[in-house]
Parts: sequence; structure tokens; C-alpha cells
Amino acid sequence: MVQDSVILITGGAGFIGSHVVRRFIKSDKYKIINLDNLTYAGNLENLRDVENEPNYEFIKGDICDFKFLQKIFSENEFVGVIHLAAESHVDRSISNPMEFIQTNVVGTVNLLNAAKEAWEGKNDRRFYHVSTDEVYGSLGDEGFFTEETPYDPKSPYSASKASSDHFVRAYGNTYDLPFVISNCSNNYGPNHFPEKLIPLMIHNIKNRKPLPVYGKGENIRDWLYVEDHAGAIELIFEKGKIGETYNIGGFNEWKNIDLIHLLCDIMDKKLGNRQGTSSRLITFVKDRAGHDLRYAIDATKLNEELGWEPSLQFKEGLEKTVDWYFNNEKWLDDVTSGDYLKYYDEHYKNR
Ligand code: NAD
Ligand code: DAU
Repeated sequence: MVQDSVILITGGAGFIGSHVVRRFIKSDKYKIINLDNLTYAGNLENLRDVENEPNYEFIKGDICDFKFLQKIFSENEFVGVIHLAAESHVDRSISNPMEFIQTNVVGTVNLLNAAKEAWEGKNDRRFYHVSTDEVYGSLGDEGFFTEETPYDPKSPYSASKASSDHFVRAYGNTYDLPFVISNCSNNYGPNHFPEKLIPLMIHNIKNRKPLPVYGKGENIRDWLYVEDHAGAIELIFEKGKIGETYNIGGFNEWKNIDLIHLLCDIMDKKLGNRQGTSSRLITFVKDRAGHDLRYAIDATKLNEELGWEPSLQFKEGLEKTVDWYFNNEKWLDDVTSGDYLKYYDEHYKNR
């Protein structure tokens, strides 16, 4: 059944966005318009299984183009916006910060302006900004990021996301734009572009290429299966309180080097290798500039107020992820040809 309530999801052809779009299409409560300009990270293959559903429409377009946004807001009566479109890779933000300011800051403010203009006098709407735990900076050995942790972004990527969070709150305060924000930890799972740690390691193990570990591999990240993030987004979109922020995370901290060893073991078993074969590919390389030491999310508020909890244990999630990459070789081959090779060679050549 095609529903009357229309939601605009931006960045829906990307990693997390595609899982969010699929979840909302399947819930069959809304019509979903997916707005994405298909950068290197956007891929319509991610949504091939649902692209013909009657409550789905894809529009190719750029959130940096305000006139275009005005047009689609005038043509559709959106009850909500779920904003995921962004430049998302920290390493790319170090070599090209302007692109991150343009998409993540200017693009977000454009979207806020389009929503503000179209929603004048209407209070039953919501602008949901999907953000990251990196806005809080870096932790030492102890403690967690809560919703009260002061912002202290340390990379051009996290500075751009912190800035966009601030603009969303400023529009709520100044113009009464109804908003919610969530800040999530590191996601992993199917459709993850292989510039990020886990899919890059899967791709390199499969192809017997070196596994580049930044520094000593002692940095810690808090990993969450992407479908659990998508579930949290649905819950917050429908039940989160206007003006509130929710942290999302799986209480699942891993040192990079330990995670890579675990992945090597899982893949050795699946590939029929002798145990230890893949971990011999580990290569310590030059550290990321300004590399945040540790992220760890306290997701108590989301659990206590909205009843959310992650559904998957990490090992189970990693197994599912590896299986997905094994079963989707063409997807991986397609995204790792062409421009990817240029990026990969340039990024890793001097490390
Ligand atoms: P991604 O890079 O996989 O996807 C981003 C998508 O946005 C792509 O489809 C791309 O084509 C689209 N896009 C980029 N610029 C655009 C523009 N100007 N106009 C329209 N579309 C544009 O990113 P992801 O990992 O899926 O992250 C999605 C969101 O979630 C981002 O806002 C990111 O900051 C946030 N986030 C990501 C993680 C994570 O671990 N990946 C964790 C927390 C929060
Ligand atoms: O915490 C949420 C954030 O997680 C999101 O907001 C970002 O969009 C997302 O990209 C991710 O950022 P990270 O920088 O943590 O993810 P990445 O996969 O790039 O790196 C994870 C860790 O692995 C980090 O400590 C750097 C390290 N690393 C990464 C790569 C690509 C390596 O050691 N070697 C590598 O080749």
C-alpha cells in the first residue's frame, strides 16, 4: 500500500542510508523519496532489491543546490526529513577538507533552509539529523560519550559534522524548526565502502594484499551493526522527543589490532586457510594525522527512554558481514575498480 506520508531521506544510496531506506520502505507506513547525488560512495546497487516498490522514489540531486531543494519541497509535502547525505571518510577529510565543509555544512544548512521555508506554520514535521560520535572528540582509557559531553571535534570530518549539528540546534532555537539528532558510533555491515577499516580488510584478505594498520593499531572504536543503527533511526524518527539528542552505540569496544586478528581468524576458517595465514598480511603503516585514540558511546538514554538495544553480538555481525562480501563479489569488484584504485594507491603509497 502506498502511504500518504512522504519522507525525504538524503544520502539513501550510501552505506547507512541504503539500510535506512530499505527499512522504511518495508515498514510500509510512508512513501520514501531518496535524494542522493551519487558520489563515489553512493551506489544504486545497494537498493536494487527494493527499487520497484510502489512507496519508493529515487531523485538524483545535490543538497548543495538550494533551488533544486526548493523545487522538491514545493512538489512534495514532506512530513519529515532524515538527513544522512555527507562526506563520511576521515582520511579524505584530511586531504580535502573543503569538500566536507561544502557538503556537510553548506549542504545541511541548505536543507534546513528548504525545510524552514516549506514548513512555516506547521509543527507536525521533523528534521532528523544523523550524526556521529566523533563530534565529542577523543577519550582516554576511561569513560564514555554521553549526550552531555561537550563537543571537541578533532578532524576536518568531525568538525564539519559538529558544525552541522550546531546549525540544526540553532534552527530549532531560532526558528522553532522541529528537530532530533542522533550521534552514533562506528557502523559495519553489508554495503560498506571498502575505504573504511572493516570492508577494506575483508577486501585485502580476500585478495592477499597487505592489511594496513595505522600506528600501532591501539586505537579503539565502538562497533555497531548497520541494521541496528537503522532500527534506532526508525525508533528515534517516530518516538524521539523534538529538540533532543540520542547517542547510539553497542557497548562494543575493540582495539583495531584485536579486531583485525578476529577478522583474519573468521576469514581463514571460511577460506579454508591454515589459522594465522591472513594475519601474516598485517602491515603497520604511518599513523593517521591527529588520530583519535578512543570512542565509546553510552547509549543508556536511548535504551531507557525508547527501549532500544542492539540485536547482534559482534562476532555474529562480523560473520554475517564477511558472508555478505563473499556472496556479493560483483558489488565489491565494481566498487574497487576505476577511481578506487587511484585513491587506494595514492593514499597508501607513502605510508
Ligand atoms: P556514505 O559515505 O556511505 O554515504 C553518503 C551518501 O551521501 C552517498 O550515497 C553519497 O552519494 C551521498 N551524498 C554525498 N554528498 C551529497 C550531496 N552533496 N548531495 C546528495 N547526496 C550526497 O556515508 P555513511 O557511512 O552511510 O554515513 C551516512 C551518515 O551517517 C553521514 O552523515 C555520516 O556522517 C553518519 N555516520 C556514519 C557512521 C559510520 O560509521 N559510517 C557513524 C555515525 C554517523
Ligand atoms: O565513529 C563514527 C565514525 O566512524 C563515522 O562518523 C565515520 O563516518 C566513519 O568513517 C567512522 O570513522 P573512523 O575513522 O573511526 O573509521 P575508519 O573505518 O576510517 O577507521 C577505523 C579505525 O581503523 C581508525 O582508528 C583508523 C583505523 N584504520 C583505518 C583504515 C582505513 C587503519 O588502521 N587502517 C586503515 O587502512
